[in-house]
Amino acid sequence: MAEFRRDCSVPAVPPLAGLCSLAEALEPGMSVEACVSWLKRLHYVWRRLHEIFTGRITSEPLFELKTAFSHQGWICAEHAGALRTRIGEMREPPLGLDVVADPGLEWVLDELRSAPDGATFCQGVYGVVLPALDAAIAEYIDSTNRLADAPSVRVLRFARLELEQLLSFGTQARAAVVVCEAEGVAAWCAALETALAAAGGLSGRKPPQGEIPPRQYSQQPWRYDRVPRRDGRFQDPYNAGVNPEAFLYDSRFSPRDKTLVLFYKRLREIDVPEMMASLLVESKDKPWGFHQAMARQLWDEARHALMGEVGFAALKVDWRQIPVNFTWSLNLNTQLTPQERHAVLFFIEQGLMPKTGKRYEWEVAQASGVPIAAVFQDFDWADEVLHSQLGREWYVKDFPNLNAALEYGDQCWSRVMSQWREYREQGLTEHRNWWPEVYSRACATWGTPCDPDALQFDETYESVRADLKTITGPA
Ligand SMILES: [Fe+2]
Ligand SMILES: [Fe+2]
Repeated sequence: MAEFRRDCSVPAVPPLAGLCSLAEALEPGMSVEACVSWLKRLHYVWRRLHEIFTGRITSEPLFELKTAFSHQGWICAEHAGALRTRIGEMREPPLGLDVVADPGLEWVLDELRSAPDGATFCQGVYGVVLPALDAAIAEYIDSTNRLADAPSVRVLRFARLELEQLLSFGTQARAAVVVCEAEGVAAWCAALETALAAAGGLSGRKPPQGEIPPRQYSQQPWRYDRVPRRDGRFQDPYNAGVNPEAFLYDSRFSPRDKTLVLFYKRLREIDVPEMMASLLVESKDKPWGFHQAMARQLWDEARHALMGEVGFAALKVDWRQIPVNFTWSLNLNTQLTPQERHAVLFFIEQGLMPKTGKRYEWEVAQASGVPIAAVFQDFDWADEVLHSQLGREWYVKDFPNLNAALEYGDQCWSRVMSQWREYREQGLTEHRNWWPEVYSRACATWGTPCDPDALQFDETYESVRADLKTITGPA
């Protein structure tokens, strides 16, 4: 093998751009056709997982799972998107990407989608499906020619990096959640493994073994649950007795006191993923780009809610004392079509762009002397600029111009019945003014006197929307 002997006059820098050794590159690996069929299976699983995580966000009560599903649904969409692009580079237009990759895989993902509660779902997704996906990706990287197929390997190495984070979260989540009928759930997880074996593994490269078991949770067609649910820390969720925007834009109040309502507004944003999930689930006719873009925005809104949680920790205020209202997502999900919901979302976000919107919130946060408030509002503002751009790309294009799109959003929002009085009459809430209590406790914690004007603040959402426009009632 004289021709492979290194020439001593050439520095011993790794060959092949550092992708692999010469010996590894000499292994033929797989053809383009074989790679494409394998990548299509991985794409199918990522895309379905994106849909499944998203479909659970609204009705999952536990805040930690609701926000994690928002994050992980987006991660899955990103990897599905990356594989779509890669498959399109392999002499294969990205056609046939929506077909079912395998009846066994379809069975597994249908069962996972229909898991009856978050605890059972966690056992299936983190105990069976994501580990199988990680193993199939590792097997692909080992099987393909790392030089010839380097672009696929790169995408899949990123995927494994993120899967490591998801699986670490999943291991801890599985240990923390309490499953009813543990034996039944263990048997269901074993059935998921059986179906994967019948499919020749998630990769489809193993000899198929056994039969697909009878359907269990997915016997009935899956139905999306559009009613938002919250865990026990979220008390009095119909309460709209305090209007934080009215406080925020009142020049009498100090920036430091305003951080309380800023963080409340951030935490309350958990209702945006609850609404956006319905938009994604019920917009199956939209192109993939819409789903990937909206999955990103959905996660950003969940992240804003998490920034609110951290903000309250910074202020040493227990957010559980504050009613975090959910009637925006409830009303939009139950009263409007997906396009109308998107219209309201775009209209609200566009309203955040002028000087009185996100820039103002950032200026208040900067003046507050609470460093984390300034950082969070800085990034929140940047995210909202992105969302405005995503809206122009995926919502405004259906209208003749921007103004028509905005006007439609304004009308749709006006048509939403806030049901402020009805909720009180039905005994769902008293719209208690929680502000004086929360504010005075915060001042006691901070060791500073209360501002008497701020303490007396008492404005509700009875007749005003969050953009401070008067509610005119349904048209
Ligand atoms: Fe947001
Ligand atoms: Fe946003």
